[in-house]
Amino acid sequence: MPHRVTIIPGDGIGPEVAEAAMRAVNATGVDIQWERKELTADIIIEAGKELPAHVLDSLNDTRVGLKGPITTPVAGGFKSVNVALRKKLDLFANVRPVRTVPGLKTRYNDVKIDMVIFRENTEDLYSGLEHEIVTDVVESLKIITRYASMRIAHYAFNYAVKHGRKKIAAVHKANIMKLSDGLFLRCCREVAAMHPQITYQELIVDNASMQLVMRPEQFDVLLLPNLYGDIVSDLAAGLVGGLGIVPGANMGENVAVFEAVHGSAPDIAGRGLANPTALMSSAAMMLRYLGEEDAAVRLTKGIEQTYIEGKHLTKDVGGSAHTDEFTDAVIRNL
Ligand code: NAI
Repeated sequence: MPHRVTIIPGDGIGPEVAEAAMRAVNATGVDIQWERKELTADIIIEAGKELPAHVLDSLNDTRVGLKGPITTPVAGGFKSVNVALRKKLDLFANVRPVRTVPGLKTRYNDVKIDMVIFRENTEDLYSGLEHEIVTDVVESLKIITRYASMRIAHYAFNYAVKHGRKKIAAVHKANIMKLSDGLFLRCCREVAAMHPQITYQELIVDNASMQLVMRPEQFDVLLLPNLYGDIVSDLAAGLVGGLGIVPGANMGENVAVFEAVHGSAPDIAGRGLANPTALMSSAAMMLRYLGEEDAAVRLTKGIEQTYIEGKHLTKDVGGSAHTDEFTDAVIRNL
């Protein structure tokens, strides 16, 4: 029986990296029946709603998605479809492994970076609850609940135990947001107490950002509310070669949607310049989730080998290869 997977190419560089990721997955020999669902900024504007039913229906049916980025207008326009999708499908845990890529030259080649970021994915300032109280005074609501904080903390600690991780750092700003981030921290502490074998620490987000730049090798697992998780993910991507590299997964109880950290990169879209590594590695996470461990390992090794050879890399990581050329090299190296 083939695995059924909903593929949402998205827009911007999405279709280019989605095509590359699908080709690489198909080349592993795993039998996937792709259900292609188009969702772009233009479609959303035309439909007048962020989440057309056919996309949700497909994901609820297949329960596994591979998704490219979707453009969200800045300072106006429709709300983020990415955020809406995570909320609607209750994809509460955003998991982003950030690792040194063997062979890739970065500013941090003298240390080994290997951390996993757990970002709460459903609330915080991404509640989308904003309003203008009076002219020129607006309010954005930061929602933090015990339910969602406990759920992401349990998820991160369980992952750490299962994968032999030793340390978890909860990142917060509870010195200022004493109630909201305070509640998030209390939940993290409560769950930490259930896992004495994992070293637990807390860092204020500004200090955490500095520590990440100065000594990224000290971090193992990071546990953050939504907004800090979003920002710190991009920062962490910058440590290992940029947004072209870092994969991710949005995990729910019954549905999982795999997508890169990066956005639709309109500055390079449609020119064959996009690095598909991040979505390919997200696809490797998906293969593992589907129980195709061998294919996941082969895909990961194929990507790594392509970086070690260094001959067919994309521009963002110092090469001159087009998206297709990099993809061909990965497929040869599977
Ligand atoms: P971005 O991540 O799209 O791009 C930031 C920079 O990184 C750009 O210079 C871009 O060229 C580069 N970059 C990103 N991915 C790359 C790749 N695979 N290969 C080579 N270079 C890459 O962030 P930006 O520009 O802030 O956002 C653009 C749009 O994407 C916005 O509408 C934003 O809302 C949306 N977005 C969507 C996300 C999603 O669908 N999950 C996540 C983040 C942003």
